[in-house]
Amino acid sequence: MSPDRPETNLPAVDQPAELHIREWEQVFGSRAGVRLFFAPGRINLMGAHLDYNGGPVMPTAIDRGTFLAVRRRSDRRIVFASTLEEAERVEFDLDRLPESRSGRWSDYPLGVLIEMSTIASARGRDEQRSGLDVLFGGNLPVGAGLSSSASICVGTALALDATWELGAERMDLVEAALRAERHFVGVQCGIMDPYAVGLARANSLLWLDCKDRTWSFLPLDTHRLAIGVADTLVRRELAQGAFNERVAQCREAFEVLSRRQTDALCLRDVRFETLATYQHELSDASAKRAHHVIPEVARTFAARDALLRGDSAGFGAQMFRTHASLRDLFDVSVPELDNLVDSAAGAEGCLGARLTGAGFGGCVVLLVQKGSEAGVSARLAEDFTRRFGRAPRIDFYGGDPGPREIDF
Ligand code: GLA
Repeated sequence: MSPDRPETNLPAVDQPAELHIREWEQVFGSRAGVRLFFAPGRINLMGAHLDYNGGPVMPTAIDRGTFLAVRRRSDRRIVFASTLEEAERVEFDLDRLPESRSGRWSDYPLGVLIEMSTIASARGRDEQRSGLDVLFGGNLPVGAGLSSSASICVGTALALDATWELGAERMDLVEAALRAERHFVGVQCGIMDPYAVGLARANSLLWLDCKDRTWSFLPLDTHRLAIGVADTLVRRELAQGAFNERVAQCREAFEVLSRRQTDALCLRDVRFETLATYQHELSDASAKRAHHVIPEVARTFAARDALLRGDSAGFGAQMFRTHASLRDLFDVSVPELDNLVDSAAGAEGCLGARLTGAGFGGCVVLLVQKGSEAGVSARLAEDFTRRFGRAPRIDFYGGDPGPREIDF
């Protein structure tokens, strides 16, 4: 799954489970004894780059994600294959798993396999681990800001837990996915993505407070509102480095400002007056990042209030503000994303739009009044094509009830 390759041949939403099993038959043979699992992707409506600053976020799962077909082997080999990676199989010995990453897609599920092996040992269930054949695939664009990595990691944790019969709790799976990405894959990611995927509920936004890891669900009125994703198809190979750099700049801002406001436990706690008074002590980049983060906390609370009083337009207005801040202060937008958001602002029935995920390419999330989807899509596609000479990919997704085993 190279981050710079747009997916153009993803399976349609209707029959991906059966399609995945047919792919399995081509790679591993008979479907006898195979189990199928699914984990969704996510979009984040508000709380941009707040998770690693201890702020609140408002993601929701989409009905696109990762499929994993799994079967136990009678030996100790672990065989990973992916429908998104041409004919590549990666093999490991369960008793001699690699200690460091390879830089390939398989690092994600391997990191989870190592974590789940630790859980098996801690529960005295080591002997339940067996070799496995696993086929990964699905209908979620990779590297698009829709959290394909958390989807694959939480999905792997669920599939291993079920196949090895470890009896872990859902939160154990979420935490295993998070540790795998942070420790084995080496991304300094916040907690939002595995939580959003692992705790997903249909027709709800997750309100996750990343400071104390408490959460609740907010109703999303899917009779009146539709959520769209406009994909620029731009993928940045260096996005991971730029993301880690943002994390470091926010940490620097916190370290300096918390000396001036000693009750602050994370950047989210720093008051705007503290920032305004001491911003000259920060590097230019860190000051700009803090000028995004601190008001973004307030915007996210304001969006929640708007949602709870049924004010969808008020919610959407916060999304537009967030995008402007990501563009001007957090420096994670690109002209293709800005173009989509600008058109969205003028499109009838579009209430809000902002880049979703880390940025540097990928997707814009759209909040649209039901019935206006076609008009909004046409307007965005036309403006984008006029400017860039090619079309974006625009889809409206349903919600998703979260990771699960699927009958086929
Ligand atoms: C990426 C990270 C998340 C979060 C977002 C920005 O998607 O994986 O943890 O930081 O960027 O909100």
